[in-house]
Amino acid sequence: MYIRTKLDLAKELSEIKSQGLYKDERVILSDQKAEISVRFPDNAKERDVLNFCANNYLGLANHPVLIKAAHETLDKYGFGLASVRFICGTQDIHKQLEKQIAEFYHTEDTILYSSCFDANGGLFESILGQDDTIITDALNHASIIDGIRLCKARRLIYNHSDMNSLEEKLKLAREGSDIWDHSGLEAMPVPARNIVIATDGVFSMDGDIAKIREIIELANKYDAMVMVDDSHATGFLGEKGRGSIEYCNALGEVDIITSTLGKAMGGATGGFTTGRKEIIDMLRQRSRPYLFSNSVSPSVVGASIAAFDLLDKSDDLRKTLQDNTKQFREGMTKLGFDIIDSVHPIVPVLFRKFENDAVLAQAVSKDLYEEGIYAVGFFFPVVPKGMARIRVQISAAHSKDDIEKCLAAFEKVGKKHKVIS
Ligand SMILES: Cc1ncc(COP(=O)(O)O)c(C=O)c1O
Repeated sequence: MYIRTKLDLAKELSEIKSQGLYKDERVILSDQKAEISVRFPDNAKERDVLNFCANNYLGLANHPVLIKAAHETLDKYGFGLASVRFICGTQDIHKQLEKQIAEFYHTEDTILYSSCFDANGGLFESILGQDDTIITDALNHASIIDGIRLCKARRLIYNHSDMNSLEEKLKLAREGSDIWDHSGLEAMPVPARNIVIATDGVFSMDGDIAKIREIIELANKYDAMVMVDDSHATGFLGEKGRGSIEYCNALGEVDIITSTLGKAMGGATGGFTTGRKEIIDMLRQRSRPYLFSNSVSPSVVGASIAAFDLLDKSDDLRKTLQDNTKQFREGMTKLGFDIIDSVHPIVPVLFRKFENDAVLAQAVSKDLYEEGIYAVGFFFPVVPKGMARIRVQISAAHSKDDIEKCLAAFEKVGKKHKVIS
């Protein structure tokens, strides 16, 4: 009977609300693009705002080339596969996209998933066991954390992007460690058989790029493999958009790359793992979200092929994104805002100099919305205490004028709240 659970959940939900942590969803009434039509709250009038909080880095979410490809694939290959890949859910286009991604990333093979969350969820337990160790950055994405939880390998966490901390953990793993945090195992120090270092390529809260070159050098020194989740970099970071790995001059040196098709590459859905042949082969045999979940729909596959083709032919969107990012970062610095330095289109605007940082982040975000700028505030527990922020995300879809409007709104609202003078 649904009585006690109902009361328990209602109590918990009201606690979440009273702590100001309840997530309301703003309803978009248009396609995803630079200027969207939003209704919020539910009974409010619909209004147009400039969107600065989507992962639509290259503006491909409503790009005519992708829409045309999706239509054509829909007509030729149908709506769905009604099957997992290994039963009767593999079309030639799934193979084509996998090959194309491997060529793009200079890897040996690729396997598609319904999402990058699934790619990370089905990775570690398929290739590692209890004799192995995963060494993971403290700020890695939830899907890497969950994927590691599903695996019997030992887990060691290194301080965020701290190479001394990573080396300490590598030594520990190689020499044998009794600091095991995996339940059900005897606390008996033995050296790890295989070691995987796992990191986000770009960390989504700060927009900082992993030190992939240094990580590879340490991996080589301690005979470890490297796994990079490139979700916030595929398509736009690096000269040809081959992500954080290209940006760090490490193409061909990372053993396992996971990423999403749900951000810069069109923003619909889908993910992949690309890397060493035997690893991908094993994932096809064992990876549970691949074996027991439906094939990526044909129209998504067709549009993704078109997205990779488009980015292969021209650097224009990447260049526009870089220019827009530079314009915004320089503008915000000039206005006196406290932003985290990077080259990435994720631009966190911090309020760490103020005691009431969480309240400020929310108030500024709300007033920006009134000015027609949609950018969301993040605060504890999503980010550490004192590090509340508004995370601005720049897109190639923004015009120079959009960026100027955003800067002007930040100036007005920032002055109102005395964040800048
Ligand atoms: C670093 C990282 N990995 C994985 C994911 C999940 O991607 P998907 O939406 O394809 O499941 C995200 C999305 O937020 C992400 O930021």
